[in-house]
Amino acid sequence: MTREEPAAPSRVDLADPGIFERDAARHLFAQLRQEHPIWWNPGTDGRGFWSVLRYRDIVAVSKNPRLFSSARHQGGHRIHDEVDAEITQGLEASMLSMDPPEHNTHRGMVAPAFTPERIRGLEARIRARVTSLLDRIAHQGECEFVSSVAAELPIQVIAELLGVPQEDRLRLFEWSNALIGEDDPDMRKSAGHIRQCSKDMGIYALKLWRERLRRPGDDLVSMLAGTEIDGEVMSIPRYFATFFLLVIAGNESVRNSISGGLLALSQHPAQRRRLIEEPTLIPLAAKEIIRWVSPFLHMRRTATEDTVLSGQPIAKGDKVVLWYISGNFDEEVFEHPERFDVARSGVPHLGFGQGQHYCLGWRLAELQLTVLFQELLRRFPDMEPCGQVRRVRSNFVNGIKELPVRFTPER
Ligand code: HEM
Repeated sequence: MTREEPAAPSRVDLADPGIFERDAARHLFAQLRQEHPIWWNPGTDGRGFWSVLRYRDIVAVSKNPRLFSSARHQGGHRIHDEVDAEITQGLEASMLSMDPPEHNTHRGMVAPAFTPERIRGLEARIRARVTSLLDRIAHQGECEFVSSVAAELPIQVIAELLGVPQEDRLRLFEWSNALIGEDDPDMRKSAGHIRQCSKDMGIYALKLWRERLRRPGDDLVSMLAGTEIDGEVMSIPRYFATFFLLVIAGNESVRNSISGGLLALSQHPAQRRRLIEEPTLIPLAAKEIIRWVSPFLHMRRTATEDTVLSGQPIAKGDKVVLWYISGNFDEEVFEHPERFDVARSGVPHLGFGQGQHYCLGWRLAELQLTVLFQELLRRFPDMEPCGQVRRVRSNFVNGIKELPVRFTPER
């Protein structure tokens, strides 16, 4: 098929991580959505990619894994194949990079850890963790919010879920940062460092697996070690991939939602006042925070056949990038998408994706955000940024790496 590319702004490259580091994407996406809702981005790797920018087109692609594959052999789940290949070797066999029917089987093995009852059962311990994190900063009156709170909570929670001793949680944190932050010089120290992190995490995961085979507990690694697929136990490469996926997916996204949420609340004081006065809105606000932040900026698919998407021909083998950060601000679907509205309800946001790969950890993510903001707004209602906000340089995660804050200390 000959590619028919719509005329497009020639100088914009959406793969440029600088756009997101400068927080310049929203305006750019709004313009592109109007003019080129399915836009061919020539790219720098000689292949280019389609950028899917409208809510309805993102949903259509996400719900059609037969035509739009997530599979590893098609190139992976991020814009550049080679980034996937080098950095996420560990994710090779993860469910994120599978299509049905294989995907359904693997998802089914991990899903029992994320049922509503199991997640509800974590609430009291999450609250205790939040309380202890806030106790640590309570008398200071100021702190660096990402390292003190936003990063700590999800890494503690994922460590608990996996059965990783809390004293090892910072290792998970370092590995996860290195594997996902390849475009940010503060996070990616060198290619060698990244390979080492991937190797270390594999060794660690294997040790844990062996321990749990000997002495199973009530954690996710024990569950995976005891799982069978079609009568066979889970293979080690598949287990590695699942371990890597959970550490990365469960860590970066929640961290960035917490820090992005705090920033959004301080930029919209009337909304923050409303939440303080009506704390029952906090679970709804958690959803709005995820829409607003869009912690994963995109996921990618690959067309398996020549096809047409909303009138735009797409050729077999083309990369198709779903920009959640654009779909989440689509004025065709959301009323006043540019308003941060803690009581917004109705159309579900795309922050957790849609369809076949819809986020398995969504309940856990919302619970962490809800508990965190319940406790934080009660104890430190005036917490606000007091210095330079430093964003992560990445076209994949919408991250904040430094957020200095001040607040009235507790007596
Ligand atoms: C605010 C927090 C989170 C956001 C924004 C988020 C976002 C996403 C998105 C967009 C996908 C879909 C990928 C695709 O369509 O290709 C996804 C998948 C996934 N997420 Fe999350 N996630 C969050 C938290 C979590 C947590 C806490 C966990 C677990 C500890 C988790 C585990 C997973 C898993 C296992 C998948 C793969 C599902 C599949 O392939 O079927 N996520 N997430």
